Amino acid sequence: MLDDKRILLIISGGIAAYKSLELIRQLRKAGAWVTPVMTGAAREFVTPLSVSALAEEKVYQDLFDLTDEAEMGHIELSRSADLIVVAPATANLMAKMAQGIADDLASTLLLATDTQVLVAPAMNVRMWDHPATQRNIATLQSDGIRFVGPNEGAMACGEFGPGRMAEPLEIVSAIEAEFEEGPLTGRRILVTSGPTHEPIDPVRYIANRSSGAQGTAIAQALSALGAEVIFVTGPAEAARPTHARVVEVETASQMLEAVQGVLPVDAAVFAAAVADWRVEGARDSKIKKEAGGLPSLSFAENPDILATISQMTEGRPDLVVGFAAETDDVIAHATAKRARKGCDWIVANDVSPETGIMGGTENAVTVISQEGAESWPRMGKDAVASALADRIAQTLAD
Ligand code: CTP
Repeated sequence: MLDDKRILLIISGGIAAYKSLELIRQLRKAGAWVTPVMTGAAREFVTPLSVSALAEEKVYQDLFDLTDEAEMGHIELSRSADLIVVAPATANLMAKMAQGIADDLASTLLLATDTQVLVAPAMNVRMWDHPATQRNIATLQSDGIRFVGPNEGAMACGEFGPGRMAEPLEIVSAIEAEFEEGPLTGRRILVTSGPTHEPIDPVRYIANRSSGAQGTAIAQALSALGAEVIFVTGPAEAARPTHARVVEVETASQMLEAVQGVLPVDAAVFAAAVADWRVEGARDSKIKKEAGGLPSLSFAENPDILATISQMTEGRPDLVVGFAAETDDVIAHATAKRARKGCDWIVANDVSPETGIMGGTENAVTVISQEGAESWPRMGKDAVASALADRIAQTLAD
């Protein structure tokens, strides 16, 4: 139920705007207050009168309506809501959101807000499939915007495929899910993931085989328990988590800077396979083959991000979790690593090639904490992630 939840509903211009009327009716029925905002194009499809009659609220339409600014400025309008829902969200409005363009009331509200936004896209299938739209979706997802739909099916334009707006009741369920509380609701958790790339020159780099799959799975599992997740990732192959704020970096030094920039957090999980060394004096221009001579590289040590955060004297996260990739004497090495770095837990795994763990879908881990070592059976990386998220939730609650 959505008792007394305040939803700011932005209706943009698409034929699916007619379904927004039913959405408003269902939201009111579920107990929510709906403040409607319509774009100019939306008013070509449904009338502000119908929208306002169903919402039992004034419809906000223009950025430069002075009465509205006196009554409630656009900043206030966007921030007084518990959730902002854009339904239908056209390709055009999504493009503006991805670029930070604010040229009408709807796009300005979306840029001015720090409230969670849920979008229900609706557009022709070719517009949905267009690389520009797909790029914008990826940008919006990494900004932490949530999506419901679109669905596949016959469209008003006569074509078939993904692009139909989700049905009003599906949107209501997605809205309800936004308000569900989990054991990590209100907790801010940092996850690092992926490899780092350490440049040799502008075209070459040193890297490792980490896919980022375990990091993404952990971020996803923490969000599922209600945490606000900040995901700092190197150039990983794995898809980015859908509910996290994603910060992309390349090198270990950039990763440390990004991590320090998002503190304070309640817990931090360092799943990244950070390169231990960088090339000293990486060149600004490409190293050329020269007759008779091989280039020699010298290395400098990278900052140890896990150790730096674990050993903070002020503002240290309550729980710091590190990973250890070992090929032999897993428990002994990982126990020593925990003491050396000063973190609370080490999640150790055996990455010998015959295990197929690095780059694979399964993992077999041993969690080392103050209480000792606990070995978990081999399972999928998703299952490891959710067991770890449960354990984090339990520890933060104690
Ligand atoms: N780590 C880090 N910053 C580094 C290196 C590692 O934050 N510069 C973190 C990793 O994210 C991971 C843990 O430290 O959580 C792994 O520690 P590391 O000392 O690199 O161990 P291994 O990769 O297992 O390698 P080694 O056997 O060389 O100690």
